[in-house]
Order: sequence, then structure tokens, then C-alpha cells
Amino acid sequence: MSAGIKGVTSVAKATIRDVDLRDKRCFCRVDYNVPMKGQEITDDTRIRASLPTVKYLMEQGAKIVLASHLGRPKGKVVDSLRLDPVAQRLSQLLSAEVKKLDDCIGPEVEQAVAELQPGQVALLENVRFYPEEEKNDREFARQLAALGDIFVNDAFGTAHRAHASTAGVAEFIPGYAGFLMEKEINALGKLLSSPDRPFVAIIGGAKVSDKLGVLESLLDQVDTLIIGGGMANTFLLAQGYGMGKSLIEPDRAEDALRIMEKAVESGKKLLLPSDLVVAPAPEPGVPVKVVEADAVPEDMMALDIGPETRKLFSEEIAGAKTVFWNGPMGVFEVEPFRGGTLEIAAAIAHVDGFTVVGGGDSLAAVELSGYADKISHLSTGGGASLEFVEGKKLPGIECLVDLG
Ligand code: 3PG
Repeated sequence: MSAGIKGVTSVAKATIRDVDLRDKRCFCRVDYNVPMKGQEITDDTRIRASLPTVKYLMEQGAKIVLASHLGRPKGKVVDSLRLDPVAQRLSQLLSAEVKKLDDCIGPEVEQAVAELQPGQVALLENVRFYPEEEKNDREFARQLAALGDIFVNDAFGTAHRAHASTAGVAEFIPGYAGFLMEKEINALGKLLSSPDRPFVAIIGGAKVSDKLGVLESLLDQVDTLIIGGGMANTFLLAQGYGMGKSLIEPDRAEDALRIMEKAVESGKKLLLPSDLVVAPAPEPGVPVKVVEADAVPEDMMALDIGPETRKLFSEEIAGAKTVFWNGPMGVFEVEPFRGGTLEIAAAIAHVDGFTVVGGGDSLAAVELSGYADKISHLSTGGGASLEFVEGKKLPGIECLVDLG
């Protein structure tokens, strides 16, 4: 028996090491929600991240039925969100055939699954083509579960969703964590249980409303909380600064104030930008300038952290023993506004300690900076890693078999 994995509760959950897989049909949920440009996969990290589990299931002689979503088709068949390009890429990476099925339930799918031989792999069609998936419809979950003798959940990136294929199926067949799930939980769990100090968290991204919960709970855990990106604008606004045309959420200014007060009361450091890169619009080729955080011109918007702020944040990060980063420091997609995000990536890469980066944009920034191999753990989960760090129970983990 393995030591299992632990979510935020003390109950250990079973992994695929705890079950005999030979000849078993494994309904294996993976997160192949990969970025695409047309029919081309622009980053296959999530497919690669599933390989240890898929290869292990193959070696153990299981019959593997992979299921995933791609994008948000809202319960309808959207041809551009079919999983055929994913099946092709997976097949290349495995050097083995992956049978791509054109649906995820129904007699044809059942027939194809019945024909699988031990070690063979099939990939179902996008489960979100059915509205029942996101509703966690019991009958839909039962039909999916009928394709497996056991459920393997390796979709850490979707573990925060209580959907039919991520949690509902576990009502009908026993669920076990795959290796990616195990790796993610172990790495992120280190942040929650006695991290080496100082512990510095850097949170960016566009909106403060998306990350209020995580900011509040991180403040309890970290020594320093660094806030950058569009969400910092609302904190600066709450301090009485005019933010010009910047993205702001005035109805969240009170929440921002409360977080700043909580930091003072609990003796935690909370760092905000002291200077900003501003421009009339987030577009290439526009005139760009650097201003103090309290001097954003009325016709300009904050689009990146300025050089003084980069230095301030980087110095704080340099002294850390544990780092968690989620969310870019500016409009990272547009060239003149990516400097701050890249400098933060570099600063984290040089930390002599345990570093975790999660979220699509932050991962892309780490890749672009060339420092990806210097980060202790690159999480495949954006929202899932935030909810985990926030101390929330993730349905995709909670539904798995308890280790007795
Ligand atoms: C993600 O990319 O964060 C996961 O695949 C979940 O996708 P969702 O936010 O559309 O549920």
C-alpha cells in the first residue's frame, strides 16, 4: 500500500499504486485543456504531464479510457474543440496508437472500449460537449463510469470542479489518484504544512475579485505578500490614488483596504507597486512611460510594474526560502509590457529554496524567461492550485478512495 495523497483534510487517498490494474478497464480523467491556435496545440505541457500515469497503466496491462475537456463549449458540439489533435500528439509522445472516439458515451463508445486489449489506449471525445458534464448529472456520470472498472483521476488542473467526469463517476466505481495528481498535491501541500521561511507569495493577474479568497488565506500563511498586475490597481485606488484609464474594480476597494489592514495587524509585509509602466492602450507600438504609482496620467493605463518596483519585489524574493507565484505582473502578452513579469520569473528562478509557479500566464512567462528548469514545481493547475493553497477541499480529490 502506498502512503497515498492528502488533500487539505487529514485523510489519505489511495493512488494507482494501491490497486491491481491488470486487465482492468480504467476510466482515467486527464486535463488535456491545452492552449490551441486553430487545430495546433501551442503548449503540450499538460499532455506530457499525464505520460507517467498513462505509461504505468499501459505497463500494468490496464485497458485505458482517457477522458478530458477542452475549452468551454457550453454543452454543445464545437468542432474546433474536438480532441483529435490531442490524440495525435499523445500518440506521438507514447509511440503507440491512441484510438480517438467520436463521442464519450453511447453504444459505439461501449463497443470500442469492450474491444480494448490490455495496454491499449482510447481517448473519448470532449466531455463538455454534454451539458450534463458540468452539471455533474448523475445519469451521465453513471454512463461514463460504465466504461471503467476503476476511476483514475490524474486531472489536477480540473480537480476544483465537481463535474461528472472529475467527481461524479466516483459514486459508481472506486477512484484512485494518478501520478500527476500525487505530485501536485505533494508539492502544493508543502506550501501549507510548515514551509521554510521566509515564505513569499506573489499574486498577479487582472482582477482582484478572482483572487480575494486566496489573498486573504495566503496572508495567514506567508511572511510577505506581493501584489502586482492589474489587481494591484484596485489596491492603489483604495489608497486614494487616481488610476487614470487603468483596469480597476471600485466595488472591491473596501476588500483591498481590509486586506491591507489585516497585513498591518498581523505584522505581515504586503508589497504593492511603487512605480508603473503606463500607456494609452495595451497595444504594441504605443508610447510608453514610467510614472510613480500615485501619478498615473488620466489618459493612460497601468500595464506593467516599473523598474523600481521590479527591484523592490526581486530583492524581497531573493531572501525567500519558499515562494508561490500565480499571475503576471502586467499585460504580459504584449511585448512592451512583459518586462516586469519576466524579471519576477528570473528572481524566482534564483531563489535558494522551494519554488512553486502555477497558472497559465505565469508558466508561459517562466518558459519564455528560459528558467523553467530552475523552478522546483511548475503546477499544471491554475484555478486548482489557487483553491488548494486557499485551503479548500477539491472535489476531484475528496471523491477518491480513503486509505484505511
Ligand atoms: C484549467 O485550464 O484551469 C482547467 O482545465 C479547468 O478549466 P475550466 O476553468 O474551464 O473549468
